[in-house]
Amino acid sequence: MVGMSGASAGPVIFILAAGEGTRMQSQLPKVLHKVLGRTLIEHVIDAANDLNPSQLVVVVGAHRELVEEVVSKVSPGAKIVVQEKRGGTGHAVRIALESVKVSAETPILVLAGDIPLITSTTLQSLLDTHVAEQNSATVLTAQIDDPEGYGRIVRDESDGILRIVEDRDATEIEREITEINSSVYVFNSHDLVDSLSKINNKNAQGEEYLTDAIGVLQSAGKRVEPVIVEDFIEILGVNDRFQLSECTALLRDRINLHWMKSGVTMIDPTTVWIDPTVSLSQDVVIYPEVALAGNTSIESGVVIGARTTLINCEVKSGANIRDSYCDGAQIGTEATVGPFSYLRPGTILEKGVKVGAYVEVKGSQIGAGSKVPHLSYIGDTTIGVGTNIGAATVTVNYDGVEKHQTVIGDHVRIGSDTMLVAPLSIGDGAYTAAGSVITEDVPAGSMGVGRARQRNILGWVLRKRSGSDSARAAEKHAK
Ligand code: UD1
Ligand code: CA
Repeated sequence: MVGMSGASAGPVIFILAAGEGTRMQSQLPKVLHKVLGRTLIEHVIDAANDLNPSQLVVVVGAHRELVEEVVSKVSPGAKIVVQEKRGGTGHAVRIALESVKVSAETPILVLAGDIPLITSTTLQSLLDTHVAEQNSATVLTAQIDDPEGYGRIVRDESDGILRIVEDRDATEIEREITEINSSVYVFNSHDLVDSLSKINNKNAQGEEYLTDAIGVLQSAGKRVEPVIVEDFIEILGVNDRFQLSECTALLRDRINLHWMKSGVTMIDPTTVWIDPTVSLSQDVVIYPEVALAGNTSIESGVVIGARTTLINCEVKSGANIRDSYCDGAQIGTEATVGPFSYLRPGTILEKGVKVGAYVEVKGSQIGAGSKVPHLSYIGDTTIGVGTNIGAATVTVNYDGVEKHQTVIGDHVRIGSDTMLVAPLSIGDGAYTAAGSVITEDVPAGSMGVGRARQRNILGWVLRKRSGSDSARAAEKHAK
């Protein structure tokens, strides 16, 4: 990807994403597993792209078509190179190097595709340190309590880095080391090329380890510097489903903290899951067990009650949503939704609309102040302003083959349990009688009645159910 301003082209960045991810036990390649709605690789690419790289190279291998598809969608400028078979991280970097043209002193930032919490701030400062200190290689490291599985940083007497030893190749004593390799490095391109020509695959995995390049440079007397990351969560790698869940929870906490600092109230932030793509405003209040996903945006003063999921929704100021599932809906100013409403794509609720319990709305626009309070289905419908839809009303929009539209005017009163058989139009100010099946248009100001007239068969229970409790109850009214 070419830098935005040609004059100050950003760094060259390699992202390694060719591994199988065997430990995930999945049909899906590891880097396509998601953390808060975004694939692992996309998290890493986003952080990398914030540095405005002059070249971004992604190394793919296992399930390459699937990974390529995602990479080219989220970062069309990225160069994709293929590692035919897993030869190790060192081998992957060598392939990436073959695909770029760089001068000897160009710093190259290398990172793994499975560290979703890495931030561009950390990447930039690692790069700045590398350049300022004129290092040959700079390694991002971390102190962690449970270093199992990670490469360990072996330091010398003067506290410099000696080499990196992989967990599987480490001695008992080396395993005690709690400083680990994050898999984020900056190398001088020349030194990288040179050191990779000197590594081999004589190790537990029979792979060429990029980590060995560090030891090679160190013994050649080059400047190799470890930089300890400020917040270790940034470098946590996802290798199995447990680590996936850990990273998801940590990203949740990071996002929630950000929103709380920006003026959002959360009653229980441990149960609120907000995708990084969501935007919130001041004085939004969020109750427990809420998920906000995709391109959801929420204006100020909105209250999101417990157990609500909003996916790609636009919620205007002062709206109140409780115990509801909404996907692709626009919820207007001061509208109220729920409890137990289901809003589907194409729903537009204007100002002050009320959608109540057990109501489903799809592909419909409901005008200001109108109400659908109970047990209804509204599909492919437009409703004017100030209209009330009685309980258990259904827009019968599907004839078994095609969908049809219903148009309901302003200040209409639809009686409870009305079936509105589309295509249909109900004029302004019209009424329908409760229990009607309305198959023909109702003109403005008219009462639409579409049901059999009631008849009472007097004395039927006394004759047909004599001796029953009902009959006894009725007897005292006889004569
Ligand atoms: C790697 C590091 C380890 C570090 C850890 C941090 C090596 C040898 N080890 O171990 O020191 O502590 O990351 O998370 O580098 N990949 C390829 N091609 C390959 C092999 C791997 O592209 O042939 C990619 C993977 O897709 C992955 C990344 O490189 O994104 C790291 O590989 P992985 O197998 O996860 O290495 P770790 O064992 O985690
Ligand atoms: Ca890993």
